[in-house]
This record gives sequence, C-alpha cells and structure tokens, in this order.
Amino acid sequence: MEIELSKITLRPFKLEDADDFFLFAGDDEFTMNLRWKTLTSKQEALDHIKDVCIPHPWRRSICIDDRSIGFVSIFPFSGEEDKFKANFGIGVAVKYWGQGIATRAAKMAVSQFFVDFPEVVRLEAFVDVENLGSQRVVEKAGFQKEGVLRKYAHVKGKLRDLVLYSILSTDFHAAQAQAEAEGCLS
Ligand SMILES: CC(C)(COP(=O)(O)OP(=O)(O)OC[C@H]1O[C@@H](n2cnc3c(N)ncnc32)[C@H](O)[C@@H]1OP(=O)(O)O)[C@@H](O)C(=O)NCCC(=O)NCCS
Repeated sequence: MEIELSKITLRPFKLEDADDFFLFAGDDEFTMNLRWKTLTSKQEALDHIKDVCIPHPWRRSICIDDRSIGFVSIFPFSGEEDKFKANFGIGVAVKYWGQGIATRAAKMAVSQFFVDFPEVVRLEAFVDVENLGSQRVVEKAGFQKEGVLRKYAHVKGKLRDLVLYSILSTDFHAAQAQAEAEGCLS
C-alpha cells in the first residue's frame, strides 16, 4: 500500500489512539531498537499514552488520515545550563517501512520544533550502529554524524555502540534559506 507523503500529519497523542498505538508498539520488530518494552495489551497502550505521550513536552503522533501510525519525539533538556539542547527519536509502524514516511515526519518535526522551542539550538539523536534505517532518516532530515559512542547504552539487555548525530538550529535555518533561494532562482 503506497502512501502519498503529503497525507502525513503530526499532532499530539490522544487517548483515542490507544488501539492504533497498540498495533505498532505491540510489535517486537518495532521496539527492537527502542528502550521501551513491547506493549502486551490495549490497556498498556492507553496507560502509555496517558502517562508518557500526553505529558511529554513534544511528542507527536505520525498520522495518516488522522490515524496514528508512529511517533516522533523531541525532548528538550531542562535547567538553565542544558535547555539549549533536545533529544530526537522516531518510530513508524513496521507495515509502513520503506516509503519515506519517517524521513518526511522527521523533517516536519524538526521544522516545527525549532519554531516551538526557539531557545533550543541543538538537537541530538543517538542511533544504534546497526540501525541503518534510522541513521539514514536522521541524515536525510539534516543531522550530521559526530561520531560513535562505544558501549554507550543498554538496549534490550545488550550494551550497544551508538552513533551520535546533531542538527543545529543555524544549520536548519541556513538550509531552509538556501532551498528558498534555489526555489526562487529556478
Ligand atoms: C528507522 C525507521 C524509523 C525508518 O522508517 P522508514 O519510514 O522506513 O524510513 P524511510 O522510508 O523514510 O527511509 C529513509 C531511508 O532509510 C533507508 N532505510 C530504511 N530502512 C532501512 C534498513 N533497514 N536498512 C538500510 N536502510 C534503510 C531507506 O532506504 C531510505 O534511504 P534512501 O532514501 O536513501 O533510499 C523505522 O525502521 C522504525 O520505525 N524502526 C523502529 C523504531 C526505531 O528503530 N527508531 C529509531 C530509534 S533511534
């Protein structure tokens, strides 16, 4: 089923998403590279939306026709010293992989987040070295690779090497200005 990318929208989660959320977050293949446990019931999905998604400062449901098919999160650090940076994460239901949906949603999220949190100048993404799809998604959304953090975090009981990526608000605005200028010239 080919999805037209212009149909993708981002919006806050709501309790009514529980059934759709369980469809993807109840799948071991989806959670394999995430720190969450695979959900085992619709009640857990409802609790997760209520306790984690809704209170989150910037977690959006990736939707097609307003039905949830994934999430994108950008978590701003708190405190005077650290509020200049935020942490990026994304996931799309397995049946929709490979259609450019995560790339599109990541670009939309970064763009909107820099408007919503103008004090944040740096977004970071920590991606498992084996998670090539996710590396490609953040690269296509404009993140730059900074290096590999060896044996950096436990995910699903295994100590993993993670690739550190970042995008600065200045990079983002410069790329946007260049794209607009090229659009005007062509
Ligand atoms: C990673 C993930 C978000 C990618 O979603 P997606 O919608 O399939 O991504 P896209 O279709 O936008 O693909 C973007 C690029 O990645 C490539 N890609 C996707 N999956 C890949 C894989 N398993 N191996 C290699 N490349 C892959 C695509 O070919 C595409 O590159 P191209 O445009 O150069 O051809 C998805 O696999 C997912 O939700 N995984 C589970 C959650 C997760 O691991 N999140 C990341 C945590 S850091």
